[in-house]
Amino acid sequence: MKRFIIRGPNKAIDGEVEISGAKNACLPIMAASILFKNKVILKNVPFVKDVYTMKNLLVALGSKVNFSVSKKMMTIINKKNHKLIVPYNLVSTMRAGVLTMGPLLAKYPKKKIKVALGGGCALGVRDTNWHLSGFRSLGAKNHLDKGYVNISTKKGLVGSKYKFPKVTVTGTSNLIMASIFAKGEHYIKNISIEPEVIDLINFLNKSGADIKFLGKRSIKVTGVKELINGVHNIIGDRIEAFSYLCVGAITNGKIKVNNINPKFLRTEINILKKIGYKILLNESSITLFKGKKLNSIKIKTGPWPSLATDNMPLLLAVLTKVPGKSQIVETIFSNRFMAAPELKRMGALIRIKKNKAIIIGQNELRAADCISSDLRTTFSIILGAIAAKGESNIARVYHGLRGYYNLDTKLKKIGIKIKSKN
Ligand code: EPU
Repeated sequence: MKRFIIRGPNKAIDGEVEISGAKNACLPIMAASILFKNKVILKNVPFVKDVYTMKNLLVALGSKVNFSVSKKMMTIINKKNHKLIVPYNLVSTMRAGVLTMGPLLAKYPKKKIKVALGGGCALGVRDTNWHLSGFRSLGAKNHLDKGYVNISTKKGLVGSKYKFPKVTVTGTSNLIMASIFAKGEHYIKNISIEPEVIDLINFLNKSGADIKFLGKRSIKVTGVKELINGVHNIIGDRIEAFSYLCVGAITNGKIKVNNINPKFLRTEINILKKIGYKILLNESSITLFKGKKLNSIKIKTGPWPSLATDNMPLLLAVLTKVPGKSQIVETIFSNRFMAAPELKRMGALIRIKKNKAIIIGQNELRAADCISSDLRTTFSIILGAIAAKGESNIARVYHGLRGYYNLDTKLKKIGIKIKSKN
């Protein structure tokens, strides 16, 4: 199993990173390809592990998927009807597998769809009850049998209305995709407006769908007859961009991230400024410069446009080096502080109480052997190791490779002393 060995403390870095396409935009758009009659071409594709898993899933369902890694491009061709069973082995390692439910239901509304339930994951329980109640609002019934959700309709899908009880990202994408060919109009309220969901909406509208915003979190989806071909450039990955900004922050150096719309990170940029870092914005890049005096801070995660829960573990690591007492409140997942015990092994002072973390900034962290347990935790531990004195050994970094493209290569390029071992 691959592990990383990082020698720290790294001196203040001065580097530049090319940000890849957003994993969480690419995966739903790949699932949306099921809706199309012919061909979908995607550009700025991040060839991370999850994208390969989604490719395997689409191929298992009957799509033809070609990757051109050097061109960052992917082509998906639908020549035959899809199979209507999504097997457990393809959804158990990747939450985004549930995103095939909506498009399969939309394209084959009178057939029975069987999708394996992914179960829990390291972040806590990750239910699909709102995905399913959303489908019910279109007339699709479901029942659970041997770990598979069986979804079907009697007369096809008919538009009505649905309000999500709380904001859900994949739930929103799934229901939008399910509604695309429904009869009449489907009104959906309290949707997620994360940039990745907006990217999916833009892609679908550009390809012939009819999705209109009626308010900030309300849309109307008017059923269309078919989607034939689609071409799309995936947006830059705001979480990857923020991760590298945090490498600059924890070494109190300078870093520029390219290929990212700074608007996607406006809350996070304000947080970095409040801590004391200087930030320069361009149309598609962000530069972080060292701060003279760093200040502790109180922050809280939430749905877009609040601080992204995926960016929280990165700030947790940065705050271990910021003088004073900081506080983080996590409002999305029940178990999102998995980096804390690992950072504590490096000497960080972190106290967790329910969904709140109190962090007391330290002058010095010391290297330790750590184990990563999920995607963003991997980068959080990497940040700790970059700041810690000595050689840290990080096991199970495969979690990080699910969502960070060329992770060790990009870190090495900006001057981090990292070795990868099998
Ligand atoms: N929830 C329910 N019922 C549902 C749906 C969600 O109770 O039917 C709850 C979840 O348990 C959670 C909260 O609602 O407590 C929000 O979950 P959400 O559905 O928004 O999460 P997700 O769609 O499964 C996506 C990203 C995550 C990111 C969250 C932020 C993808 C593929 N995944 O997950 O990304 O943390 O939104 O809300 O887009 C990552 O990239 O590292 C990652 C975990």
